[in-house]
Amino acid sequence: MTVVAAHRSMITFSVNGRDVEVSADGARRLSRVLREDLGLTGTKVGCDAGDCGACTVLLNGEPVCACLVAAAQAAGCEVVTVEGLAKRSPMLGRLQQSFLAHGAAQCGACTPGMLVSATALLEKNSSPNKNEVMDAIGGVLCRCTGYRKIISAILEAGTGGGSRVVKTAEAGAAVGTRLVRLDGQRKVEGSEVFGADEIPKDALGVRVVRSPHHRTRFHFGDLDAFAAKHPGVVVVLTAKDVPGADCYGVIPRCADQSVFAHHEARHRGEAVAAIVGEPCALEKLDLSEFPVRWEELPPIKTVDEALADGAPRIHGHREENVLVRGRVVRGDVDQALQQADFVVGGEFETGFVEHAYIEPEAGFARRIGDTIEVQACTQSPYMDRHDVAKILGIAPEKVRIIPTAVGGGFGSKLDLSVQPFIALAAWKLDRPVRMVYSRTESIVSTTKRHAARMRLRAGATRDGRLTALDFSADFNTGAYSSWGPTVAGRVPVHASGPYIVPNYRALTRAVHTNIVPAGAFRGFGVPQAAIAQEQIYDELADRVGMDRLEFRILNALSNTTPTVTGQVLGECVGIRACFEALRPRWNSARFAASQFNATIKGPLRRGVGVAGMWYGCGNTSLPNPSTVRIGLTRDGRIALHQGAVDIGQGSNTIVTQICADAVGAPITHFDLVSGDTAISPDCGKTSASRQTFVTGKAAHMAGTKLREAILNLAGACKCGDIQFGEGGIWVHENGKSQALDLNALPLDEHGYVITCQETFDPPVTPLDENGQGNPYAVYGFGAHLAEIEVDIELGTVRVVKVTAAHDVGKAINPTLIEGQIEGGVAQGLGMALMEEFFPGKGENLHDYLIPSAGDVPEVESILIEEPSSIGPFGAKGIGEQAVIPTAPAILNAIYDAVGVRIPKVPATPDRVRAAMLEKARGGTRG
Ligand code: FES
Ligand code: FES
Repeated sequence: MTVVAAHRSMITFSVNGRDVEVSADGARRLSRVLREDLGLTGTKVGCDAGDCGACTVLLNGEPVCACLVAAAQAAGCEVVTVEGLAKRSPMLGRLQQSFLAHGAAQCGACTPGMLVSATALLEKNSSPNKNEVMDAIGGVLCRCTGYRKIISAILEAGTGGGSRVVKTAEAGAAVGTRLVRLDGQRKVEGSEVFGADEIPKDALGVRVVRSPHHRTRFHFGDLDAFAAKHPGVVVVLTAKDVPGADCYGVIPRCADQSVFAHHEARHRGEAVAAIVGEPCALEKLDLSEFPVRWEELPPIKTVDEALADGAPRIHGHREENVLVRGRVVRGDVDQALQQADFVVGGEFETGFVEHAYIEPEAGFARRIGDTIEVQACTQSPYMDRHDVAKILGIAPEKVRIIPTAVGGGFGSKLDLSVQPFIALAAWKLDRPVRMVYSRTESIVSTTKRHAARMRLRAGATRDGRLTALDFSADFNTGAYSSWGPTVAGRVPVHASGPYIVPNYRALTRAVHTNIVPAGAFRGFGVPQAAIAQEQIYDELADRVGMDRLEFRILNALSNTTPTVTGQVLGECVGIRACFEALRPRWNSARFAASQFNATIKGPLRRGVGVAGMWYGCGNTSLPNPSTVRIGLTRDGRIALHQGAVDIGQGSNTIVTQICADAVGAPITHFDLVSGDTAISPDCGKTSASRQTFVTGKAAHMAGTKLREAILNLAGACKCGDIQFGEGGIWVHENGKSQALDLNALPLDEHGYVITCQETFDPPVTPLDENGQGNPYAVYGFGAHLAEIEVDIELGTVRVVKVTAAHDVGKAINPTLIEGQIEGGVAQGLGMALMEEFFPGKGENLHDYLIPSAGDVPEVESILIEEPSSIGPFGAKGIGEQAVIPTAPAILNAIYDAVGVRIPKVPATPDRVRAAMLEKARGGTRG
């Protein structure tokens, strides 16, 4: 074991105009000095390797990655962090306001780095052009926004771009208004508290020992001796230290994970032990000296290997390594395909995709008597509470989950990450324990988008009507269940796309392998299915001889046609409207591309592609409730207790807008109470595009009830008006006004004058053995049109523009919805063209590439409003929907440009070139 003595010295520099002197090892990262020694946690750390740009600060006016600057290098320099921008010059204050006005900060994890990088540009050039802006932020990654609103915000900053900030709306007029997000100010000031931003006094740290192999047995040496030998190490925890039921998982009936592997690790990165100790001692530990002997075993890495005869079972009770099967069958698909005038088929594959949120998992836990508190980034506080209680063997009421701001989640932060380790250590040691995943640890150990292999055949009549689709898919679900059952169950419902398909068979399997678990990632498998189905429909349209967009319009679901589960929605089916909204652009873009291809001499070919989507909001045929509580205080303010975690999508703002209009109060009268399980009821998980719809509906119901209660208090009828003023409430009815004397009223058990609590659970029905029933109460619909250029010599693809039409029911906040769409397009582009996670390789943001500002095209959002009678003010979800059609639209555009299908995404240049060469040789895929 090597413990390197720190060489501390006094280092003096200026930070945000203030001289500071710190005692630090000169080699210590400046980012750590700023965050940990000076408390300037506005500077974020996403990779510690110079790849993400989240830690960007100004060093003598130049943007640098603070994680790559040694503290000694800052000596005598002027450092500026996000906290110092506003007071540096009025223009920089305007920059932050412009970010707010444009909705340029979603989760906010990249925002400090973006603001600082933009500052460096604007200080030299107050009127930059778009390319200059894109260059300036090119080294800062954002996983949420798709960059367009960030670029617009910077372009407008020098010219008063913050002047359009809308922070309030008239009472009753919040819905539909482009209000700035209620948590936006904290994000642009750098004061938002993410998982790693709070360090309790005397907190111990954790280093987890993880399997270096895909499959391995392991044998510990003398762990007590190891701990005793290393000053600062307090304890080593293993499976035998888990006091409760060491079996957890996001879907309780499939729970199969343990805090630490027992004897055999089933995937690379699985935890086998945790070393708990003083943070500075842990940092210096050389884990290669940890007393464990690995006995590597042959792993199962692919679905074919897992399903092969005689393959060892990864979980003994799961036959053939199949975690779960999904099935939706309607009509007679075999006969329909036989009778179809045209039939086309194909096989498509998609790879694993890493979530790559900018904030790695982090948090701390502390024991308070017989209660454990866990403050961490999470998408699902109540699910965390359940599993932490199970692990510790205590009642759920003895676990308090305090969600921090979440720097991006996209599904992966639904699963536990740091929570079991910090909770277990804090519980045992009765000391605060903190843990921050490194980027590599995050990538190695957290869930991925499922890799998929899909086969399908589709049939149509001579006049272009779809008659049948036969779809099957195997999903590589990795070593543990996570959300595999949800993916296998949701995909068969959605694999038809938003079309009338009278004869249908969709069969899926989630198959275990020795790969890190695949879980939830924006769309739960539907983006993969759309890649297959939308390409096959294009081929079918071509065979029929129809325009590809008109083929989709002809077959689009309507209010009166049954879905593949036999559900007739009866209202708000907006898919046809989405396609029709694209028609003008489709026609003009197709014409322009054909002109370009006919006249240009050179390697570029243009193409245009279209794809549709639908997505059921909320859980599939399962209870899915949200409960919202609101309370009226004696000074006439309204406390909104809602547990929906805002992971950047804007639920804090959206839910408040809905509630404000239901009450009829200005949004400025609301105080938001977070998702802390001790003080807010359960609003379920932030996933499946359910928070606007489900929690928003619960907020609408609670708000309506509060309005009625206030009128009732005044003895007024339901038609009375309520006026919320400074320090009081007045009720007007029939020309008379009365002030409510709230101070004279008693407080209830929650400490409010009036408390209203409502629960909403969407009306769904179970699916029968053929998958028939009503799996969702409401669906979102959408269609994307991609315009691209292919370089036929290099195989590179550049996306020029995406036009995205989405039926959102009611646009509660158009700016936030556009942000979801633009971010979804960027993730869809990454999936289509560049992103693939190879287990055991490239476990960092240097090798795993996500789109940067220069990769993302112009996005034109078209919002269609087909209101749902169930959703709050008619609203539906948008989060998952936005990502689904982008990749198939791009892939269809590639075919349009160069006449080749790419059977496995991402369509990297080598794959595009290979497909073109195969076509040139007379291969079949073209
Ligand atoms: S944390 Fe410094 S570049 Fe990522
Ligand atoms: S807002 Fe950019 S990473 Fe979330």
